[in-house]
Amino acid sequence: MRVVISIDPQLPMPLGRQVYEAWRQGILDKRFAGGERVPSSRELAADLGISRSTVTLAYEQLMAEGYLTSRKGAGTFVSAALPDMPLQSRRASKRAAMQPLPISLSSYGASLQNDVPLLPNARGWIDFSQWNPDIRHFPFALWKQLLMKQLRGIEATANAAIFDYTAHAAGYWPLRCEIARYLARCRAVVCQPEQVIITNGSQQGLDLTARIVLNKGDKVVIENPCYIGARHVFESVGAHLLPGSIDQAGMQCPTFQQNLRLVYVTPSHQYPLGVSMSLARRLELLAWAREHRVLILEDDYDSEFRYHGPPLPSLQGLGNAEPVLYCGTFSKIMFPGLRLGYLVVPAKLAPVLTRAKWLTDRHTPVLEQAALAEFIASGQLEKHVRRMRKLYGARRDALVSALHQHFPGEVEISGIDAGMHALIRLDDPALPMRAQQARVHLRNAASSYIVNAPSNEYLFGFSSLSERVIREGIKRIARP
Ligand SMILES: Cc1ncc(COP(=O)(O)O)c(C=O)c1O
Repeated sequence: MRVVISIDPQLPMPLGRQVYEAWRQGILDKRFAGGERVPSSRELAADLGISRSTVTLAYEQLMAEGYLTSRKGAGTFVSAALPDMPLQSRRASKRAAMQPLPISLSSYGASLQNDVPLLPNARGWIDFSQWNPDIRHFPFALWKQLLMKQLRGIEATANAAIFDYTAHAAGYWPLRCEIARYLARCRAVVCQPEQVIITNGSQQGLDLTARIVLNKGDKVVIENPCYIGARHVFESVGAHLLPGSIDQAGMQCPTFQQNLRLVYVTPSHQYPLGVSMSLARRLELLAWAREHRVLILEDDYDSEFRYHGPPLPSLQGLGNAEPVLYCGTFSKIMFPGLRLGYLVVPAKLAPVLTRAKWLTDRHTPVLEQAALAEFIASGQLEKHVRRMRKLYGARRDALVSALHQHFPGEVEISGIDAGMHALIRLDDPALPMRAQQARVHLRNAASSYIVNAPSNEYLFGFSSLSERVIREGIKRIARP
């Protein structure tokens, strides 16, 4: 172990004293934590280029004063209890009195100061505010086998490349091929593997897209209400957001086009209202985008979980040569910690997006990409999605029946033909307070609106809660 201890032979203070002071100060400043092992006197002396006896003397002094302790056969450690706490607190208050230096932010940094939402800590609560997959049902044993298979490969050196930088910033080629085939089968996306760019979740797909197509002041139409993650990304590059109205057929075609660069839509399952864009509206939007040379960014984040009717084809697939960028994720159908998603882009945009990806973070970790390629190729991904669709469908039904039971005749439920959450309209001003008192976390939909936010809409995630917990949660928020 090598630690950074600064000594200076030019100083008048003896070297042993400098070593003593450096450790003492580091311990008081909590640079070295209680219980942490310190290097042996031999190691430190060699690192500092001084005699071992100088270090030994400094260590003995620190031990005598209680800063260090030694355990026979185990080594020397920083003491768990510090000897002069009053001195330490005097120093801390002196430091607190110092004014922090002002740090000026870029306009990107400044835009992030405005409430980018972080995940709530709802431990012990019933949490309807998330719509994540139920990872207790993910086949982790199989996933481990797939990872291990890749790791075993390196022993034969055949697979060592997965641990080096890859030349393929756009992603691991077999995975790009599998995703292209999967999307053709399940989402009617029309693409070649060269058009698939692997990203760290769909959030990175949105971010890369924004940065390669938008300039400050460019206009972007975004659904109102919308996915906050997308809104913040567009705002962070200085785009001017224009709210797109939504009706039962999905987002209406924009009526303006001046300086419009991009339209962001969630046509399969509008986030958060849950409506699906009708075929007529899709065709209208595509024709409009072509006529006005506007790019469409289609976010298809959870459409695999469709409970009624046949799966809807993607806008991208209907577009043929239209300028659609299609963004997807494995966060919902596998698990969000995987951080794997993809963009499917017009062929001529693939090189610039690949460079943007390389510049941002080089590439996505290859080990997981390789395991995922096999997970898809073996049919296991689609098998898992089928199982989860059944499970989530039952949970969705439990939510609907519990809401009708406890709020008869007053609750309006929408957006539940697909996805992992429902949109609930309920005129009950006391609901948030009752939920708070009953330790139930609810999410009001108002923050998803750019304009005209109603106060009576709530988002209820059902996918990660068991039917029993869902029933219990709705019972808890019912009027007494
Ligand atoms: C509309 C929308 N897009 C994308 C995502 C997923 O993001 P990621 O793939 O970065 O986990 C979510 C997550 O809730 C979402 O609601």
